[in-house]
Amino acid sequence: MNRPASARLLGTGLYVPERVMTNDDFARIVDTSDEWITQRTGMKERRLAEHDQATSDLAIAASRAALADAGVAPEEVDLVICATITADNTLPSTACWIQDRLGCKGAGAFDLTAACSGHIYGLALARAAILAGQARTVLVTSAEILSSITDYTDRSTCVLFGDGAGAAVLGASDQPDTGVLYATLYADGSGGDLMILPAGGSRRPPSHETVDERLHYMHIRGREVFRFAVEKMEELIGECLKACGLAARQVRLVIPHQVNRRIIDAATGRMGFPPEKVFMNIEKYGNTGGASVAIAHDEARRQGILGPGDVAILIAFGGGLTWAGAVIRH
Ligand code: ACO
Repeated sequence: MNRPASARLLGTGLYVPERVMTNDDFARIVDTSDEWITQRTGMKERRLAEHDQATSDLAIAASRAALADAGVAPEEVDLVICATITADNTLPSTACWIQDRLGCKGAGAFDLTAACSGHIYGLALARAAILAGQARTVLVTSAEILSSITDYTDRSTCVLFGDGAGAAVLGASDQPDTGVLYATLYADGSGGDLMILPAGGSRRPPSHETVDERLHYMHIRGREVFRFAVEKMEELIGECLKACGLAARQVRLVIPHQVNRRIIDAATGRMGFPPEKVFMNIEKYGNTGGASVAIAHDEARRQGILGPGDVAILIAFGGGLTWAGAVIRH
């Protein structure tokens, strides 16, 4: 069997819900202000799903856009990977709902949980499956309804998150040196408590008590995450450059997880990337978890920032703890 030379990027897509929640809207429900949120995070507004929308609904809309962009029919997809921490159900996987409703007949499908690093984990696995000959066309769809696990009485977390979905289609190619050139994945489970949904799983199954104690919402130690994030984003950029033999000037764009403008500015600035080479849409969508890098990647492409041959570095970190980076030539 001839192995492909690369896992080429065929297309991307995004979907965000229509409902907008602004900083001023938060100031009406918790003790906060537009000024605090803007200065500390860079966020101005975020999108929230309607109550009848599930994560797969968002993922399907983003996936359709990505397949159309790629010119790939659903039945040509032979693996569906859904990165999410807000699955429609624990059983079955969200990827299986997506596979059925998109019409990816005969495809394998599974969810992966790597929090905000999820999309890059998905791209890494898609690339590996293609290069190993396991699959020829892979849909990576990363979607979150973080509003379903956000405590809207906790001002230190609720202002940070939004809902949305992004998707990418990768395909086997005989052309070398294109598509996902490099991907690197990390985890450190000793930091699992820093970002945690304490109840609802097998450790603490749902009960009246866990609901009363608000344990089905994300609990985050933001200050500690901040330090970790800056350090890991810098390390990831350095590793990606070194592994691909690239200088910063040869990279068209860094696409970071949209977690906090200050974190992104600190990490990318120290690695020699001026603001115009760092993609940000945090002011519009906030932190959309695993979908964040996928949405940003699609927006950068659609704005014409990334043309044929351009190299982008995608970096993310999140609960787990996890962190991951990928280098893509377009
Ligand atoms: N409005 C007003 N005041 C607030 C708010 C708010 N929304 N939230 C916290 N504060 C207060 C705090 O209570 C604190 O008050 P105190 O000094 O009287 O105790 C003060 O603001 C400063 O709080 P810090 O936590 O030190 O503020 P910081 O500058 O670190 O910013 C933030 C907080 C934005 C959370 C920042 O630490 C951050 O972005 N961390 C990483 C974000 C993160 O963890 N994201 C989740 C990643 S997981 C995932 O992506 C799924």
